[in-house]
Amino acid sequence: MDANKLRERFLDFFRQYGHATIGYAPLIPENDPSVLFTTAGMHPLVPFLLGEAHPAGRRLANYQKCLRTNDIAEVGDMTHLTFFEMLGNWSLGDYWKEEAIHLNYILLTEIFGHDPDRLHITCFAGDKDAPRDSEAAAIWLSLGIPPGRITFQPKTENWWGPAGMTGPCGPDSEVFFDMQPTGPSDETPVTQPQRFVEICNNVFMAYEKLSDGRFVPLAQRNVDVGIGLERNLMLLQGSDSVFETDLFLPLMTAISRLARQPQPLAMRVIADHIRAAVFVMAEGVRPGNTDQPYIARRLVRRAIRYGRMIGIEGSFLAPLAGIVVTCMGTAFPEIVPPSGAIYAALDDEEGRFQHTLVRGEREFARAAAQSHAQQELVLPGQTAFHLYDTYGFPLELTQELAREQGLAVDVASFQSAFAAHQAQSRQGAAGRFKGGLAERNLQTTRLHTATHLLQAALRRVLGPHVTQRGSSITSERLRFDFNHSERLSSQQLTAVEELVNTQIGRDLPVSWGEMRLDAARQGGALGLFEERYGETVKVYAIGDFSLEICGGPHVSHTGELGHFHILKEEGVAAGMRRIKAILAG
Ligand code: ALA
Repeated sequence: MDANKLRERFLDFFRQYGHATIGYAPLIPENDPSVLFTTAGMHPLVPFLLGEAHPAGRRLANYQKCLRTNDIAEVGDMTHLTFFEMLGNWSLGDYWKEEAIHLNYILLTEIFGHDPDRLHITCFAGDKDAPRDSEAAAIWLSLGIPPGRITFQPKTENWWGPAGMTGPCGPDSEVFFDMQPTGPSDETPVTQPQRFVEICNNVFMAYEKLSDGRFVPLAQRNVDVGIGLERNLMLLQGSDSVFETDLFLPLMTAISRLARQPQPLAMRVIADHIRAAVFVMAEGVRPGNTDQPYIARRLVRRAIRYGRMIGIEGSFLAPLAGIVVTCMGTAFPEIVPPSGAIYAALDDEEGRFQHTLVRGEREFARAAAQSHAQQELVLPGQTAFHLYDTYGFPLELTQELAREQGLAVDVASFQSAFAAHQAQSRQGAAGRFKGGLAERNLQTTRLHTATHLLQAALRRVLGPHVTQRGSSITSERLRFDFNHSERLSSQQLTAVEELVNTQIGRDLPVSWGEMRLDAARQGGALGLFEERYGETVKVYAIGDFSLEICGGPHVSHTGELGHFHILKEEGVAAGMRRIKAILAG
């Protein structure tokens, strides 16, 4: 059975049981700025899991493109991928555990034909938030799964969701396939994880996680089932890994032809990363320095590095992307029209990185040798920052190179080097917007949020001509430069201070969303537009008081800021004023 057939059989089966087939959602979530990518089929269905009526009914099924980067280091083994497809079926307040598990069992054993004797099950062990799931275990028992193949585990293992910080979630029951059926019969996925492959997850989504961390029962009891397409395909095709299925074989063959020293691990990494990059880029993302663009850059640059490792010469990503488009374009037709632009962008990124990769690697080797010579187990953060800044090495790439040499990277000092650099370039190019890793300490984050409040307050007190011309933040104070022709009176300064403190007292939520630059502009978001932003920008809203294009980070509520106090107001150039301020308490 090939991948197309597998999707079809799955959807047919659930249609027979009254499930409407629904389309898949984009990889970049449309309504949830709290996560970068769609990580599961349930993700786009959150409003319906919370009780809104779905136009297609209460029984749904689909296949969904997903991206998870948390397992990126695992990619290269038998089963791990960053981009993957999830087959999903849902009951929105309709059937519950009995029918869900029955349908799941029939699907796995009769439609997919997996040997029932090789299935192992895990269930939720229970805790203060929800009871032990003896109900699910009893249903599996009634289907003939012996008690020795059902294990109970805590929330860390057998609870799924929410997909972001808050939302629907619940205890789950996972199905594992035994890859060594002749092994000792008392081993389980808990005691011997490498022997088993997780092929499916039944989530009983009857809870909602709130922002204060509590789990409260949902009015509607939902079932959310996710089935990894590539892993099931691997079993159905009797392949040794997901990379030997029809979804990957053409790609793997092409890579092995290009490589002078083909090695399975590197070839798999390249295949996975180019596939993921194509899908991310098909949604308009281009490699860059923050958020989704940063992930695209990491994937592409890591693929390039692995390509060099196995002796691939010249540019190779665009032709491989072409194979991805051929293999996947039937199931996901949206990747076909932008393919030409994707190839061009890949060539561009490859050209950029090829120049610096070899020199950066040499530089890294020198620094690593020095760490070893000094019997240090840590590579200085300055070195990692230099590799980032001069040679375009994403931090994670340097960490990977370091790990290969038995070294760790001093991430805290990398971040301070990064922040110092950001502050400097801000001073240099008055008010230049930069996103990313800068200033990740609590006090600078607070001052950064206060800067947004200050700008909004100045505009209200002095007039809408006021815009930011520069800003610098240390752990002690903020400094904010803006255009205004006169000295501020003490009444004006008090009014600004009070206005900021009122917003702090209101404990306004700070939220953000990604949007297109033109939409952000039309919505009135502040930002310096002469700077070349990407096509999509991140916009931070502070309640109803402030809206600014910004890379963050910020506090989550203004109540976290303490008392805002202006230390000084002065002129720095003709028509340009400067305020220094602190947060006390
Ligand atoms: N949402 C569940 C998962 O991703 C099915 O495992």
